[in-house]
Amino acid sequence: MSKIKFAVVGCGHIGKRHAEMITRNPDAELVALIDIKERPKLGIDAFQVPFYNSLESFLSSDVKTDVVTIATPNGFHAPQAILALNAGNHVVIEKPMALSKSDAEQVIFKALHQSKQVFAVMQNRFSPPSVWLKDIIQKGIMGQIYSVHLNSFWNRDDRYYTVDSWHGKKELDGGTLFTQFSHFIDVMYWLFGDIKNIKSIIRDFNHQHSTEFEDSGVVHFEFVNGGIGNFNFSTSVYDKNLESSITIIAEKGSVKIGGQYMNEVEYCHIKDYEMPTLAPTNPGNDYGAYKGSAQNHHYVIENVVDVLKHQKAISTNALEGMKVVDIIERIYQSAQ
Ligand SMILES: NC(=O)c1ccc[n+]([C@@H]2O[C@H](COP(=O)([O-])OP(=O)(O)OC[C@H]3O[C@@H](n4cnc5c(N)ncnc54)[C@H](O)[C@@H]3O)[C@@H](O)[C@H]2O)c1
Repeated sequence: MSKIKFAVVGCGHIGKRHAEMITRNPDAELVALIDIKERPKLGIDAFQVPFYNSLESFLSSDVKTDVVTIATPNGFHAPQAILALNAGNHVVIEKPMALSKSDAEQVIFKALHQSKQVFAVMQNRFSPPSVWLKDIIQKGIMGQIYSVHLNSFWNRDDRYYTVDSWHGKKELDGGTLFTQFSHFIDVMYWLFGDIKNIKSIIRDFNHQHSTEFEDSGVVHFEFVNGGIGNFNFSTSVYDKNLESSITIIAEKGSVKIGGQYMNEVEYCHIKDYEMPTLAPTNPGNDYGAYKGSAQNHHYVIENVVDVLKHQKAISTNALEGMKVVDIIERIYQSAQ
């Protein structure tokens, strides 16, 4: 069978990672790169493929592609996904899928209309602690879930929110829940389902000069499936990331996963259960002084190939991508 052809739009930190992982996958082929910046400024010399300065010019070229990967600033995800779907491509959309539920719905509508697939990128799901936790929750090993507590305490200061960056701009970034913390909301939704009765307080403590939105918040809610939860987040931590953790208190035991990006099982005590040894988690994406979420993008490319060639299930489908956007939107609304 022929290789799956990918074009990547947005050749920054994450677009280059996608390009690299596509070229490493024997069933995938990188056919084009697209960015509004000039090619020499992007550090993409390693990729000997045609380059375009806009998605529109690529889509009107005669380069054939199966999948367009969207790795541009958040505010472009939905409109660019719709353009790419309209031209007959499947799309991989970096997180978040969109900056509003209604935009995500339009992407899904277009995909259904065109009979094309939408792959949302939530690569933290592939980390060994997440895979293990999903398995024990699904098997009911912890019994009834009483409460779930998420803490995401990171540092994003002036080294990150530079004047010329899209980060910090409401229209392109959307807020810290979209850009920094959507992976953790995704993991919570993936494990425990939707939430309701959301109450949140959000504040901007020390980013008034650098962002157009909050840096900290406390949120509490109920799970539709039963149980209660809270989510505390901040980008105001001094100098470096402190933690990202999830603590689960359930009928038959308790678990805490921590580390900077939920990469270590810190506590597991469950009745009649012995914790297996987990493979180490891949390190976080490196942003100079910053660490982001896990370097698991190769799994995303593998999943695209598996779905398009072998009819496997999408690891994070469009509906799940939309639900994360919906939950974030409702958290922000409840703080108003
Ligand atoms: N999955 C993850 O762990 C993860 C980690 C970091 C970033 N991301 C997501 O990836 C996306 C990109 O983030 P980044 O850190 O690579 O940003 P970045 O600023 O490093 O790169 C963005 C690139 O997009 C280009 N661009 C901007 N507007 C464009 C347009 N209209 N058309 C084509 N190119 C355009 C920019 O010139 C830049 O090269 C964001 O949505 C972000 O949320 C995901």
